Amino acid sequence: MAVTLFDKTFALYIGAETIQERVKEMAAAMNAGLRGEDVVFIGILNGAFVFVSDLLRHLDFNAPVSFVKLSSYKGLASSGKVISLIGVGENLKGKTVVVLEDIVDSGKTISAILEQISVFKPFQVRIATLLLKPDVYNGTVEIDYVGFRIPNRFVVGYGLDYDGLGRNLKDLYVLDE
Ligand code: IMP
Ligand code: MG
Repeated sequence: MAVTLFDKTFALYIGAETIQERVKEMAAAMNAGLRGEDVVFIGILNGAFVFVSDLLRHLDFNAPVSFVKLSSYKGLASSGKVISLIGVGENLKGKTVVVLEDIVDSGKTISAILEQISVFKPFQVRIATLLLKPDVYNGTVEIDYVGFRIPNRFVVGYGLDYDGLGRNLKDLYVLDE
């Protein structure tokens, strides 16, 4: 099955059931590893909203969730500069902050958000991403929770978009090249 968004065709890549199972496993790892911590979740808009909503419903402890909005991608490639559109509104002092990202590519978005969060002097910061492109990840920090490691291909669906479209797809699709 293929989908077309604007001028591009995408092929089915990771099915909805596989994604749901993996998200459940990530939540289980957090249930085990973060219990007893004073946790605040920070989702990164727009792409992470689907992942965040599925993940949080599998957690068995109470914690607030809030969102920041950053933007770096235009079409198929990162513009290289990250713009902050909605900043951190929560007081994160002394908290275990868990950043929730849809995909970590170059790592620029993650380093921008870590910089914003560090101002609040949290106790510690953990990073969770549904997808990681290890071949292009250029960051210095370790990603604590990774759903799937994928090659350097452009993907859409499950929150991820191509120029604004494709976020509603239940499965993940990869650009046909
Ligand atoms: P980074 O700052 O280069 O790590 O890029 C991270 C952001 O770029 C993610 O939050 C996504 O919004 C976007 N992004 C990176 N790779 C893809 C992709 O394959 N499809 C859709 N968006 C992507
Ligand atoms: Mg994003």
